[in-house]
Amino acid sequence: MEYQAKQLFAKHGVAVTEGIVANTPDEARAAAEQLGVVVVKAQVKAGGRGKAGGVKLAKTPDEAHEHASNILGMEIKGLTVNRVLVAPAASIQEEYYFSFLLDRANRQYLCIASVEGGVEIEEVARTNPEAVRQIAIDPGTGVDEAKARAIVAEAKFPEALTDQAVQMILALWKVFVEEDATLVEVNPLARLEGDVLEALDGKVSLDENAEFRHSEHSEFEDKAAADPLEAKAKEKGLNYVKLDGEVGIIGNGAGLVMSTLDVVAYAGEAHGGVKPANFLDIGGGASAQVMADGLDVILNDPQVKSVFVNVFGGITSCDAVANGIVGALDILGDEATKPLVVRLDGNNVEEGRRILAERDHPLVTVVPTMDGAADKAAELANA
Ligand SMILES: Nc1ncnc2c1ncn2[C@@H]1O[C@H](COP(=O)(O)OP(=O)(O)OP(=O)(O)O)[C@@H](O)[C@H]1O
Ligand SMILES: [Mg+2]
Repeated sequence: MEYQAKQLFAKHGVAVTEGIVANTPDEARAAAEQLGVVVVKAQVKAGGRGKAGGVKLAKTPDEAHEHASNILGMEIKGLTVNRVLVAPAASIQEEYYFSFLLDRANRQYLCIASVEGGVEIEEVARTNPEAVRQIAIDPGTGVDEAKARAIVAEAKFPEALTDQAVQMILALWKVFVEEDATLVEVNPLARLEGDVLEALDGKVSLDENAEFRHSEHSEFEDKAAADPLEAKAKEKGLNYVKLDGEVGIIGNGAGLVMSTLDVVAYAGEAHGGVKPANFLDIGGGASAQVMADGLDVILNDPQVKSVFVNVFGGITSCDAVANGIVGALDILGDEATKPLVVRLDGNNVEEGRRILAERDHPLVTVVPTMDGAADKAAELANA
């Protein structure tokens, strides 16, 4: 969110005014009493807030209260606004656009800059692409002062602002690298009265693969907006994505799970159009605890009517997985209430099937083939 991006900007020396975050209209009024003329800005992880009516100028504390009551609870691009940023109103002379991002296709970084920034930047990019400059950045050398000057020249930022722009670009590059970001965007980068350059908006995407060295980034997560099942799965270290259907899916290995989704969707056509309810890859180990955690998440999805456990014993052996399933059902006890269709194949499959047959759990049906098991799971979901 903007206010979080601005915290990161301030930390690395980007010229920015942080403002005050408010969760209620009364807090917005109190903030405006401190700051004077302000803008009240919806805080959601989406752009285009201004066009959606989520950015409003307030000349008095009462106006700030009124705007905050309108903006809080508003939906912008499917996201509910739970807080606003109250920021001092700036006297804007011009609005520029600036960003660093990861350019995957070309295996490098990219800087995008334009002197025609502001809320119409997408329109400018369409109708006047020449005004939006793209500057490749070699990941080996990055952005030093010379490169920053080259960017300023290419973007045609005004002479009077050159030194400030260079400092701004170097500081934004620090945000990009030191925070392990995949996007750092400033729109508008504003020229204020008196030729002062300031970041009036900010958007930062952080690379989740770098989480291990940024424990402090977890505070940026929007827990209120996260799907509760996905949040629970994440807490347990599971690779889970909620989908819309009725057949819960557990498998080992992302490729197998992806093809299981296809097979279930196909089988579902003959059974009332049931569909997969989720993606869940429990990976190699498949211990009883991991299996129990996975089942726990899936069985708590009220849309789920049946579960398909599809395991291929490659590195894992099927007897370990079978013990995992039996152990998971024991751990879950009465909480396991929906039918499970299990397909095991691969390493030590005979022993795996024997363990499941011996336990003979009333909820479990073992089906030897993937297509057969998908059909059975779809049938049970439609029963
Ligand atoms: N502190 C401020 N003072 C005065 N005007 C502001 C301020 N912050 C934002 N604005 C104005 O409101 C417009 C929209 O605000 P902002 O860029 O923060 O949100 P946005 O619409 O989500 O942005 P984007 O179009 O980049 O997605 C800005 O282009 C600017 O003209
Ligand atoms: Mg903006």
